Amino acid sequence: MLEKIAQLLQEVENLQASNADELEALRIKYLSKKGAINALMADFRNVPAEHKKEVGIRLNELKDKAQEKIASLKEQFATQDTGLEDLDLTRTAYPIGLGTRHPLSIVKNEIIDIFARMGFNIADGPEVEDDLHVYTKLNFAADHPARDMQDTFFVQLNGEDVTKNIILRSHTSSVQVRTMEHTQPPIRVICPGRVYRNEAISYRAHCFFHQVEGLYIDKGVSFTDLKQVLLLFAREMFGNDTKIRLRPSYFPFTEPSAEMDISCNICGGKGCPFCKHTGWVEILGCGMVDPNVLDACGIDSKVYSGYALGMGIERITNLKYQVKDLRMFSENDTRFLREFEAAY
Ligand code: DAH
Repeated sequence: MLEKIAQLLQEVENLQASNADELEALRIKYLSKKGAINALMADFRNVPAEHKKEVGIRLNELKDKAQEKIASLKEQFATQDTGLEDLDLTRTAYPIGLGTRHPLSIVKNEIIDIFARMGFNIADGPEVEDDLHVYTKLNFAADHPARDMQDTFFVQLNGEDVTKNIILRSHTSSVQVRTMEHTQPPIRVICPGRVYRNEAISYRAHCFFHQVEGLYIDKGVSFTDLKQVLLLFAREMFGNDTKIRLRPSYFPFTEPSAEMDISCNICGGKGCPFCKHTGWVEILGCGMVDPNVLDACGIDSKVYSGYALGMGIERITNLKYQVKDLRMFSENDTRFLREFEAAY
């Protein structure tokens, strides 16, 4: 009897099954009512009394081992089979959500498209800049308040003291300078990009935002050319009924300078909270490039003239989509971003 038990124990320890059916056959062979172990149990009563204790212990061990082994093989199939047995090939597919373009990208691309149709190329420049390209060559006086710590982020290199020379650009006008430095007129470029200012973050200000700069330099460029391009841009962007108005302004790098308002496209110029009941909203700064800037960038101001313009992409986006809180643009909340699915 003990020999028989030892032999079955060995068999049980080496059991293998490659699928659930095989495993079931093994269970029947060893553990069912008519299985090998039960047959031994039935023989138990014929065991002489003096051996009953030892044989009983061994027999129980065998039964436990067999149950354990079958259970562990079963577990293996359970993990392997999940999903496959339940696979329903007739089920409809999970909808895969298409990504959406960011509203700022949508508007930026629209601005680029409009200017590209008027013959402007795209120019690019670094976001980590130096004072020369962001301020000095743009005719900012040494003590101009825009250079103040309040506005400009200064970059510290290798633990050295802040030199006030390496900075994050605070406007894309720096790309004007870089373009003029390495290109002779005619120049007709727009420069979209991110800019940084040391502002407290709120619903109406952020420490970074986006601008598009425009620059046109050639012989005989006049303010009339600027006005025409501005009018075309405003109509393409906001619709054919849009009116523009130019107000005198000041920028160090343009002379004369102006700010452009468009008739409020939310109330159609009648007056609403968005335009503070004036019927007009400001969208950009512009002017004729100051001769000092041309000369500083290696372009002969006696031969060439040109205009420049600069606008904030967030502002234009707000006008188009009435986003009330600037912070929405950088929070990546997909509930907000998905609203732009229909735009291109
Ligand atoms: N750089 C100006 C700013 O960030 C915007 C600007 C104004 C750009 C007038 C221009 C311009 O090119 O002519 O506020």
